Amino acid sequence: MSQRSLVLLKPDAVRRGLIGEVIGRIERKAGWTITALELRTLDQDTLEQHYGEHKGKPFYEPLMGFMQSGPVVALVVEGERVIEGLRTLAGPTDPIAAAPGSIRGDFGTIVRENLIHASDSEESAARELKIFFPGLV
Ligand code: RTP
Ligand code: MG
Repeated sequence: MSQRSLVLLKPDAVRRGLIGEVIGRIERKAGWTITALELRTLDQDTLEQHYGEHKGKPFYEPLMGFMQSGPVVALVVEGERVIEGLRTLAGPTDPIAAAPGSIRGDFGTIVRENLIHASDSEESAARELKIFFPGLV
């Protein structure tokens, strides 16, 4: 089942020079295609839409600050079961609990600074794609 997912390389990944490393892992998955890609600095309004489900949680405000601390790379990835596949490639939220071989498991130690966002369901993907790439059909 071909799907689309919204991926963000978070400011820590960009600052640490890991754009190529992370995108390389995505590109090497057979049959997946990057169909949009942009380096951009996110504003509060965009982030509130994106992470609205977490508003009021203790980590929400620090997350907002972190996500505005530098540019992110936003990309759209298309392909077979890409939503589930990208979440597997990323690993679980806590990088210390993430298995080696996953992006978070290989490069992260801090829960907030966990390098990558990937849509967690078809509904989230549709919602997030509209926020970040409204011109996409
Ligand atoms: P994401 O939405 O960024 O793909 O990450 P996720 O689904 O794995 O995790 P989620 O629960 O949606 O949390 C969103 C992001 O908030 C930061 N976070 N910090 N306890 C904490 O300090 C904490 N918990 C979550 C992480 O950057 C997480 O990815
Ligand atoms: Mg999430």
